[in-house]
Amino acid sequence: MQNNTQPDIYLRNLCKRFGDIIAVQNLTLEVHKGEFLTLLGPSGSGKTTTLRMIGGFEKPTEGEIYIQGELVNDKPPNKRSTRTVFQDLSLFPHMTVGENIGYGLLFQGLNKNDRKNKALKALELVGLEGLYKRKVTTLSGGQKQRVALARALVTQPPILLLDEPLGALDEKLRERMQAELKNLHQMLGISFIAVTHNQEEALTMSDRIAIINKGRLEQVATPREIYENPKTEFVADFIGLANILEGEIIEDNTGVEKLLSNGLEYFIPTKDKFNKGDNVILMVRPERIAIGDKVKGYKNSFSVTVRNILYKGVCSEFYISFDNDQEMRIRVESKSFWQDRFTGGKITIGWDERDTVVLKRESK
Ligand SMILES: Nc1ncnc2c1ncn2[C@@H]1O[C@H](COP(=O)(O)OP(=O)(O)OP(=O)(O)O)[C@@H](O)[C@H]1O
Ligand SMILES: [Mg+2]
Repeated sequence: MQNNTQPDIYLRNLCKRFGDIIAVQNLTLEVHKGEFLTLLGPSGSGKTTTLRMIGGFEKPTEGEIYIQGELVNDKPPNKRSTRTVFQDLSLFPHMTVGENIGYGLLFQGLNKNDRKNKALKALELVGLEGLYKRKVTTLSGGQKQRVALARALVTQPPILLLDEPLGALDEKLRERMQAELKNLHQMLGISFIAVTHNQEEALTMSDRIAIINKGRLEQVATPREIYENPKTEFVADFIGLANILEGEIIEDNTGVEKLLSNGLEYFIPTKDKFNKGDNVILMVRPERIAIGDKVKGYKNSFSVTVRNILYKGVCSEFYISFDNDQEMRIRVESKSFWQDRFTGGKITIGWDERDTVVLKRESK
């Protein structure tokens, strides 16, 4: 049965244990039709295991996997609507590019000519026209990556699974391939589920990101939501750079909520409603903190000591400390005349309280 609102993939309370190791715990997640969803998390968090269960290469210990409305727990990989590009690509080294791509079509009852035409089309799709007869061992890393993609796409699967698709590439090529993968996804209109531990890649390519930590789903949301509005302390800390303060909610005599942290008071966004005395964390990104004249009318404004400045080309990172010894990192656009003139001295820093995220503290 199929309808338009039905998710392409529905994982329900998925668990996977390997002996004593709990790789995936109680994971519930929907992937919408035509969506680019990325599973992002630290090493060992269960991303590959989740993807392998969707592809049929691993059996869930508990829970269900539905693909396009059908329960597929007991179906082998080749009976599912998914194709997988593995992290190591798994190309056949003794075969040519064309043979590698055509391999996936062998069991579809197509004649040799049709197989070749389809393989040529898939090669064109990934920008490798003219390499049909090449041995895969003679290809560059980026070319191999594209061949693996073409091999998965040649069968026109409704759902493509990608495990660290760009992991083996150098940074320049990785950036280019990120754009290409995104284009390819838009062109094909099928669902892509990718696994990565590279957050920039996830933020750039995905429609939504699912953050996995210790086998559990922490948050699933658009890249912007994940970055601007993390729902847990883990997500706040894991994505991007974050300054995190711990403190307690206080109110001034007009009822304005503030955070009291180690003797200093910080204004927080009024949309966050906490109770007086709540233990919370406050997160502010280094690039949202201004220095010097730029602090303007910010309510959160402090005189701090510069401990160190790291020059990083486009930006410079200031390591500063408050009067209560609280440390923070600040990222500002570099100025050629700064050099080290601030180090050891005092500067004014500040931020708009709307650029902070306040979360209830999780019990550890
Ligand atoms: N076949 C297996 N047997 C035993 N333990 C396994 C097996 N496969 C995975 N694990 C364990 O399950 C946990 C999750 O592994 P998984 O490969 O899913 O992590 P990952 O998030 O993909 O990490 P990485 O980013 O390093 O690839 C790890 O602790 C891993 O050691
Ligand atoms: Mg992995």
